[in-house]
Amino acid sequence: MQKLKQTAAFLIAYAVKEIWDFGDPCVDVWKYKEMLEYPPDENMGHLAFPCFKLSRDLRNAPPKIAAAIAEKISDDAFESIAAVGGYLNFKVSANALENILSEVEVKGDKYGSSGQGEGKTVVLDYSSPNISKPFHIGHLGTTVIGHSLKLLHEFEGYKCIGVNHLGDWGTQNGKQIVAFKRWGDREKVEREGIDALVELYVKFHEEAEKDPSLNDEARAEFKKLEDHDPENIALWKWFIDVSFKEYSVTYNQLGITFDSYNGESFYSDKMAPQIEVMREKGLLKLDDGASIVDLEEYGMPPCLILKRDGTTLYPTRDIAAAVYRKNTYNFDKCIYVTSSGQSLHFAQWFKVVGLMGYDWNEDLVHVPYGTVSIGGAKLATRTGNVVLLKDLFRQSIEKVHEVMREKNPDLENADDVAEAVGVGAIVFNYLFNNRIKDMSFTLESALSFEGSTGPYAQYTFARTCSILEKAKSEGISFTGGGKITSAEEGDVIRCLAKFPERVAAAVSEYEPSNITRYIIDLCTAFNRFYHNCPIMTAEGEEKVMRLRITAAVNTVLKSALHLICMRTPEKI
Ligand code: ARG
Repeated sequence: MQKLKQTAAFLIAYAVKEIWDFGDPCVDVWKYKEMLEYPPDENMGHLAFPCFKLSRDLRNAPPKIAAAIAEKISDDAFESIAAVGGYLNFKVSANALENILSEVEVKGDKYGSSGQGEGKTVVLDYSSPNISKPFHIGHLGTTVIGHSLKLLHEFEGYKCIGVNHLGDWGTQNGKQIVAFKRWGDREKVEREGIDALVELYVKFHEEAEKDPSLNDEARAEFKKLEDHDPENIALWKWFIDVSFKEYSVTYNQLGITFDSYNGESFYSDKMAPQIEVMREKGLLKLDDGASIVDLEEYGMPPCLILKRDGTTLYPTRDIAAAVYRKNTYNFDKCIYVTSSGQSLHFAQWFKVVGLMGYDWNEDLVHVPYGTVSIGGAKLATRTGNVVLLKDLFRQSIEKVHEVMREKNPDLENADDVAEAVGVGAIVFNYLFNNRIKDMSFTLESALSFEGSTGPYAQYTFARTCSILEKAKSEGISFTGGGKITSAEEGDVIRCLAKFPERVAAAVSEYEPSNITRYIIDLCTAFNRFYHNCPIMTAEGEEKVMRLRITAAVNTVLKSALHLICMRTPEKI
């Protein structure tokens, strides 16, 4: 609706100039565009301009302003422009609706993209699990928000580099090595994968409670790893392989790959020069033997750079990684998606990067999200009360299988479809929420075929496919032409017109839920149209228009679902 808003704003700006000789239309048009609203009741209008915002400047009562402007303006984009109280209400004309539809048809899968990212590069750091630890529900956020933000930026024309900043360096790796050397069984790990590694890690902690010297042993093993001890390097690489076997199952189900898997270890030789910069700038202070950057002036606790024994820390590696990424990719933006529990960590080291003299610290963006808990029926867990993503996906896929066996027993590719719907249900449910809010997740509601759910959206998409398929088999051509005869058709088309602004909002707010909610708006409008306006039994111009609308919804729903990491099976 941006174009229509612009037209409306333009008309208002010129009318204001003409009637009251006020303002500069070329400038005001942008201001007025922002002021236009979507009225809650569409019967009143499709766009509304609150004239009370002008009453001070124009020294007039809002209803008077509205009436005077309404009297003055008209455009073939609007079938009516009426003054109602202090508002100017615009109704979109059939002509404008036709233009919107043509735009979707011409742009196809590019429709909705503003191209604002052309020539710009964005690095996105997301998912980034700590190796030898299972991929659990807490990773859902970083993984799907991160990937969706990557897809959204790509859609807007940015060149994107997705980085899996693996947590593969630190004393926890020393602990894992100690545990394996003491109690490990190679075959068991080969057989059971990450579960066996987790078991060893848990055992380490239990034993270290009784015998704290194990912690020194772990530090020593990590030190050996840092010094490239071949045995430890081999073990550590093997732990990464074992971990990845597990992670890839989930990544494959979500259709996620990364452009770089440079984890924390990659920066082990890249920190020293940056520590030197901090030293030169006089930023480092000794605190009980450790080196810190004091951030009191900025209202934050100090950022830890080196431990007492001279080993580096999480922020040290992040700083080295940021410099490396700037030098390698020359990014315009580097985005980090993690739980809000890490907000302080990012605020601290972003500040340190600035103090080091790197002005691009302004381009570092932390995108935090809230916690997820599981409600409703209990989900099976293998490790205490941690819900593994793999198990959650499996249970969801199984449930979808059950439903589908009943609903559509002859479906081809039933396994693929069940995976697309089962995994999609979880992703959709998760991305429906404002990311910063904590959420409680229930499989039952995620899997419902009604309401604001993934299955409902995918099912609506499949419905558009089956209508188009039928039209194709009947040899009906519907490129251009047709006639709008019902309100429902206009509602769908105006919803299509809102897609570009929802994409823009999702990118500027780093908020995929703009798309998820849009999908529900579009599905709701389409299903209302579908139930009230017969398509295949309509005739002539009416049928052509209804098929064009169905095809446009198909195009936009497909783009939108893909932007939130969902697959779009054509039959469900
Ligand atoms: N591995 C970390 C964790 O699991 C997340 C890493 C996020 N990225 C970063 N550059 N710090 O908490």
